[in-house]
Amino acid sequence: MRKGDTVSEETLDNLVHEGLTFPPPPDFAAQANGTADLYDKAAADHDGFWAEQARTYLTWSTPFTQSLDWSNPPFAKWFADGELNACVNAVDRHVEAGRGDKVAIHFVGEPEGDTRDITYADLHADVQRAANALADLGVGKGDTVAIYLPMIPEAAVAMLACARLGAPHSVVFGGFSAEALHSRIDDAKAKVVITADGGYRRGAPSALKPAVDAALDHGDTSVEKVLVVRRTGQDTAWNDRDLWWHEALEKAAPTHEAQAFEAEHPLFILYTSGTTGKPKGIFHTTGGYLTQAAYTNAVVHDVHRDTDVYWCTADIGWVTGHSYIVYGPLTNGVTQVMYEGTPDTPHQGRWWQIVQDYKVTILYTAPTAVRTFMKWGTDIPAKFDMSSLRLLGSVGEPINPEAWLWYHKHIGGGRAPIVDTWWQTETGAIMISPLPGVTTLEPGSAQKPIPGISAEILDDEGKPFTTPEQVGYLVLTKPWPSMLRGIWGDPERYKETYWSRFGEKYYFAGDGAKYDADGNIWLLGRVDDVMNVSGHRLSTAEIESALVSHPKVAEAAVVGANDDTTGQAVCAFVILRQEAVGEADEAGEGKDLVQELRNHVAKEIGPIAKPRSIMIVSELPKTRSGKIMRRLLRDVAEGREVGDVTTLADSSVMDLIKTGMAKD
Ligand code: WT7
Repeated sequence: MRKGDTVSEETLDNLVHEGLTFPPPPDFAAQANGTADLYDKAAADHDGFWAEQARTYLTWSTPFTQSLDWSNPPFAKWFADGELNACVNAVDRHVEAGRGDKVAIHFVGEPEGDTRDITYADLHADVQRAANALADLGVGKGDTVAIYLPMIPEAAVAMLACARLGAPHSVVFGGFSAEALHSRIDDAKAKVVITADGGYRRGAPSALKPAVDAALDHGDTSVEKVLVVRRTGQDTAWNDRDLWWHEALEKAAPTHEAQAFEAEHPLFILYTSGTTGKPKGIFHTTGGYLTQAAYTNAVVHDVHRDTDVYWCTADIGWVTGHSYIVYGPLTNGVTQVMYEGTPDTPHQGRWWQIVQDYKVTILYTAPTAVRTFMKWGTDIPAKFDMSSLRLLGSVGEPINPEAWLWYHKHIGGGRAPIVDTWWQTETGAIMISPLPGVTTLEPGSAQKPIPGISAEILDDEGKPFTTPEQVGYLVLTKPWPSMLRGIWGDPERYKETYWSRFGEKYYFAGDGAKYDADGNIWLLGRVDDVMNVSGHRLSTAEIESALVSHPKVAEAAVVGANDDTTGQAVCAFVILRQEAVGEADEAGEGKDLVQELRNHVAKEIGPIAKPRSIMIVSELPKTRSGKIMRRLLRDVAEGREVGDVTTLADSSVMDLIKTGMAKD
């Protein structure tokens, strides 16, 4: 803080709290699922500990006799001789146990008053019909199904129906473009696509199906049929391959006998960004994934089946939605809220209205959302009764202490513990997090691996260290049940990406990390060319290749620059093709062209990847070997003094870029 700055009451308050820790409230600890002895148990017998969780949280049709099989690293098998059905675990068994009338999902559509309560019995009826409808279209064990839906209950039903049939689903986030959808459908060779006419966003229907049509109009496609959920009722172009979801379900037989699959049968594929332009199809299998999703939801989110109303605000298109809307909470039989729309429709208190209306007890969201609410002001949540909240969670990126303290005070009433949960699409479930009834919380740190998980921090040479404040690389040192089993169709890339940086003993997470003096782990962001924008993972290479696919662009470099709200923001630097430079100058079109390029990225990847800024430059800073020095571009994008340029092939380049910047 500089001299002369005015100090807000808020800041003062936070400064007073700095260095403060939060022990678990005794009443919370007394009822918590996660207890201190879990750490000891897991340390004493890692494989046995996980076998016990697999038996505690899941119902097996054929009990397993082996826990971890690591005879062919880095390809793990867990509970391999057991058999189960994920959908039966998430739905049928709750109905069989007499809990069919319990609400599984309180659905809140974006238009006010558009709500539906779906019980476990309702879900059971829906997944059976949906499984039969898919089977009628020829979907069976091992066939892949792409799901491109808004946040509506049908998304969960579609995923579970696939699981019921042993057909791996590949959910593609509804914010991705037709191009991105096409490449994902193609890579997974999906047989059926499940979509909707549209969904509600920012107060209006927003079409989805046209993107599916455009993706499939590429011609050569594996897709035979498209099932279309009617959500908004908007006009929708119709093709021979299209079928209405509600008609297909009506026609389908009402009961479906689920078959059990081997624990290592693939449950789903989920594409995520890596360091190259091509997204990776991360795939997860059934028994281990489901075990850790349910266990972490119980011990970290502390869900109590009979009393909690849980709400995870993620979209089902991301791994958080897979593990903590569909598989974890439903396997645990809890009641949850699912909300379709944006937090400011029709007003900035919408979330808090939902918390009040449904008496939500557990809220799991992302730091970017918390920072947005901070910007909107404390008076907004203050208007609602949120005394039902007893636990808060954070995921997707580091939560800065200021946002943590705000979240704790203004959302959690200074009472609810916060669990800052570190994990990844690849890890399938939470890995590093406090246990809310055990851990003394330290704002800003994800703290410790949960019981059953082992992590270390390595230096450049690959040596583990524990020196406080030294910065290194986070690695995971033991296989875990919900670990990815590979990259779909590319086992070599799997080995190379995750198991080669520090040898085959360590899973390389791609995150920088340090310990503090208390031995708590602080996650410091990605060390590779992956950005984190509002908790969404984006690859610099993918956006660069989208920019270069524009006819006017010769070369592009993308960096993630710090952003107060979104964590990082996409900043691009492009060199135009010679013809385009002339045109842009003559017509004075610079601004239009920037807009055109931003829209082009949205079309190629999706609106989330749209650069915040695009700078047109004549050169990019490169080393003598031709590698773009992103560090220097980041300095420019963040408005800092440019760092060491001695390794540049041409050190005058940065002067040119800075002059260009000053002109804007
Ligand atoms: C990357 C994984 C985990 C589901 C959502 C994102 C970052 C995630 C935290 C956290 C610091 C975090 C990491 C990680 N990240 N959670 N609590 N603290 N960083 O999944 O898209 O696979 O991204 O998100 O950088 O590697 P994802």
